[in-house]
Parts: sequence; C-alpha cells; structure tokens
Amino acid sequence: MDAHTKTKKIAILPGDGIGPEVMAEAEKILDVVAPRYGLSLEKRRANVGGAGIDAEGKALPDSTVETCRWADAILFGSVGGPKWENLPPDEQPERGALLPLRKLFGLYANLRPAIIFPQLKDASPLKPEVIGDRFDVLVVRELTGGIYFGQPKGRDAERGFDTLVYTKPEIERIAHVAFKAARLRDKKVTSIDKANVLASMVLWREVVTGVAKDYPDVELNHMYVDNAAMQLVKNPRQFDVLLCGNMFGDILSDEASMITGSLGMLPSASLAEGSFGLYEPSGGSAPDIAGQGIANPIAQILSAGMMLKYSFGLSEAYDAIYQAIESVLAQGLRTGDIMTPGCTRVNTKEMGDAIVRALG
Ligand code: NAI
Ligand code: MG
Repeated sequence: MDAHTKTKKIAILPGDGIGPEVMAEAEKILDVVAPRYGLSLEKRRANVGGAGIDAEGKALPDSTVETCRWADAILFGSVGGPKWENLPPDEQPERGALLPLRKLFGLYANLRPAIIFPQLKDASPLKPEVIGDRFDVLVVRELTGGIYFGQPKGRDAERGFDTLVYTKPEIERIAHVAFKAARLRDKKVTSIDKANVLASMVLWREVVTGVAKDYPDVELNHMYVDNAAMQLVKNPRQFDVLLCGNMFGDILSDEASMITGSLGMLPSASLAEGSFGLYEPSGGSAPDIAGQGIANPIAQILSAGMMLKYSFGLSEAYDAIYQAIESVLAQGLRTGDIMTPGCTRVNTKEMGDAIVRALG
C-alpha cells in the first residue's frame, strides 16, 4: 500500500432475488477499479430483506444496522419476493428494511440518473431525434420531508387531508446536493415547484434562488411541475439536474426512468449529511428471472460507481466504469432485458466479465 492509498469501509447488503447475482458482478468491478484510484475497500456483508427475515427474523436485523454503522457507505442489492408477500406491511422486506435505513441514517437526498447509452436508443419510447446522441438526466429528490411526512394528516369517512411543509434548512440542504451534483455534470439545475399555487413552493423557489448564489458557475432555472412533466417527453435534453421535493421527485423520477426504457440499467443513490450514502439499483428483486443468472448487472455496477463518485469523491472512477459499459454495449453484448436483433445475448456473469475486460 503506498502513501496515497486510503481505506474505506463498505457494507454489502445483497438482499433477495437477483440482488446477490448482480452484487457479485458489482464487487468484481469494484475490486478492479478501486485500487487504480488509490482506494482500498474493506467489505462486510449482512442480511437484509427476505434474507434478513429468514436468517435473523427481521427485514433489517440489528446486526445489519451495526454493520451499516461501521461502514462509510452501503451497497444495497434489492429485496422482496413472493415468499414474504403475506407478512404485515411493516414487516415486509422493502418497507421493513428501506424505510428504517432511510430514517436511521438520515438519507434525505435521493439521486436517480436516467441514462440512455447511445447504443440503446431504440429501447426508449421516445423518438431517436428527441433523445439525441447522449441522454443523461439526474433527478435529485428530497426524501424525508414534504407532503409524505407533513403533519397534520388524517381522514374520516367524508374528508382526508395531508400537509405540505418545507422548512428553509430542508430546502437549503437538498439544493446544495443538486448544485454540487451539477458541478460534476453539465452545470445546469432546473428547480421544480408549483409556486403559482402552493405557498410552500413559493418558499422553495426563494430559498433555491438564494442557494444558487453560492454556485455562480451553475445555471439555475425554475419550472412548474406540470410543465416539467410535459417537457420531459417533449424536449428532455434541455435538462441536466432536476431538483425536486419529495412528491414531485417521486413522480418525475419514475417518468424520467421510463424514458430510458431499461430498468436494469438504472442506478440510484440516497445520501445523508456528510459523505455517507446508500447505493442501489432503481429496480427490484425481479422474482420472474431470479436464480437463472440472466439479470442485467449494469444498474448494480453503476450504483457501485455512484458510491465511488458521491461518497468517496472519485468522479473519474465513475466515468471509467461508465465508459467501460458503453464500450461493451458497442461490442453488441446484451443481457435479455436489453436484447435486440443482431446483438449477442450474454448472462449476468458474462456481462460483468466483459465490463472488467473493457476496463483494461
Ligand atoms: P422489479 O423491478 O423487481 O421487476 C420489474 C421488471 O423489471 C421485471 O420484469 C424484472 O424482471 C425486470 N428487471 C428489473 N431489474 C432487472 C435487471 N437488473 N435485469 C433484468 N430485468 C430486470 O419490480 P416488481 O416486479 O414490481 O417487484 C418485485 C419485487 O421487488 C417486489 O417484492 C418488490 O417489493 C421488490 N422491490 C424492491 C425494491 C428495492 O429493493 N429497492 C424496489 C422495487 C421493488
Ligand atoms: Mg416510486
């Protein structure tokens, strides 16, 4: 180990279904990439989701929480499956693991890139000329505030209500995440609100405008959410980073991901204050193809790349992984979910191995 090597600790939580299958490939990539950037990774694995329920009686066992506390970042697979579907909602793999993890670790910022590699343009429901050569939009969604959590909320037989509250500090910290992310990208933030009708969104717009003053190199514009929903399908290339509150981000991130047409390709990050984060594919445990070794590992591999970028400050390592994936796609290698005529079908492991080779 030379003087420039730094050590980081990661908690590996493979979970259920295709989780362990795609995690194995992400670990392979990390083992190759990390040392090149002077990073030594110390890994501990733990049970989560259905695997946690089966082994330790809980979707998020105490020992798993301890491993996550020990770690500098969490690499998460996916959880859930038919086996656990009849448990009470709060004990189910997804709810019982991800909600408490978000809460325990203060994961307030959800980053979901919608990426279309040029080789997969045909998979998008949008026309190739709308998509352009390179499509990569990042939705930054506030995850712990807004109308999903605002009090009071309630209902009786005749009336139901929720409260949309955002405070200045909550808006400031998510805005900083968006501007910092934009600095590592195309330096453009579009802040999404509904300031024409919602008082909370008038504050949102004001506070974001204030935070922008710290980032004179990043361009800011504001857009109403209804217009943003239209613009995402009409002219999606105008966007770089979309900054959203919890509910608008929930909706727009799903819309943006469907533009790409390939769930198995999309990573995500949930960040806490400081550099801690949880990284996972946008999709679930895919029970329909689990156990066959045919899942697309790219979402998990890009999630590991996002960990290197956002938790460990290695933007170039993310770029290297991205380029390796692009070159493998250019060779015509495809897992089943992104298969098109004329390409070569590969399984999970073959895709991982090809990306390792492309890394050189
Ligand atoms: P899903 O994302 O697991 O599957 C939807 C479709 O996409 C399936 O046809 C699946 O085969 C395909 N797919 C997803 N990822 C893929 C990949 N990497 N490669 C190839 N194909 C892929 O969503 P679904 O079916 O709604 O949920 C299945 C289970 O996953 C449920 O138990 C659900 O609770 C859980 N889930 C867990 C999440 C998490 O761990 N964060 C997120 C979403 C769902
Ligand atoms: Mg959603």
